[in-house]
Amino acid sequence: MTKVLQTVAAYREWREETVGSASLGFIPTMGGLHAGHLDLVKRALEENEYVATSVFLNRTQFNKQEDFDKYPAVFEEDLQALSELGAHAVFAPSYEEMYPDDYRYKISESVLSTELEGEHRPGHFDGVLTVVMKLLMVGNARRAYFGEKDWQQLQLVKGLVEAFFLPVEIVPCPTIREKSGLAMSSRNRRLSADGFEKAALFNQILNTAQSEDAAMEALRVAGFDPEYVADRPGRRLGAVVLEGVRLIDNVERS
Ligand code: PAJ
Repeated sequence: MTKVLQTVAAYREWREETVGSASLGFIPTMGGLHAGHLDLVKRALEENEYVATSVFLNRTQFNKQEDFDKYPAVFEEDLQALSELGAHAVFAPSYEEMYPDDYRYKISESVLSTELEGEHRPGHFDGVLTVVMKLLMVGNARRAYFGEKDWQQLQLVKGLVEAFFLPVEIVPCPTIREKSGLAMSSRNRRLSADGFEKAALFNQILNTAQSEDAAMEALRVAGFDPEYVADRPGRRLGAVVLEGVRLIDNVERS
């Protein structure tokens, strides 16, 4: 059974008494766990003696209240999935526990965080970087696992660890997809059966369109409301809205 730790003090006690000098892998999440998250947990279990995850729906990174309100909160299911895999602990704090300062203190990055997701979701990366800093400080792990699904987040987290000399190794993990190619996401639960099927075109269009403009147009024709498609060295990234659900993805590009 995965041990549930709701306070920083309880986590720290477990970290010291149970893990001690053994290797620890840490996986920060916002819950609503799916096969993508669980792949990170499996990888961490292979590479470390102990594994802890966090389940914390971080409201400071949501620029829209509605998106926060609709985010799946299914802690009992999450706990069940973590227990079946054999994760040792889950840190599941309240907002007050995580933000004793009520978000007066923030971590912000001034270059990469202003484009793409940052441009379309003002304040998003301040919330992400601040909570990741807190989680890595509490987690006190040898390795922390992040998915390539959130490509820009992954680059910003790597930069955070370098900038502040955080003593943790960031391990990037490939995007886990449905058979159709749709990147797994907690938000996919909010799509209708029809939308779920159609959403696969997002990944297909990112993979096949000849240019950013062609991808934007193909997405519109397919019935998406595209926010951006951006070509970067070796990567194409995009964000769309479908049935009021915001989806992001990124693919390799030669
Ligand atoms: P969340 O969306 O719950 O994702 C937790 C971790 O799982 C992230 O590193 C994310 O990139 C990874 N992940 C999500 N879907 C994935 C998929 N289909 N394949 C592989 N990895 C996937 O990202 C966050 O939470 C938050 O921003 C967080 C870092 C926890 C800070 O609040």
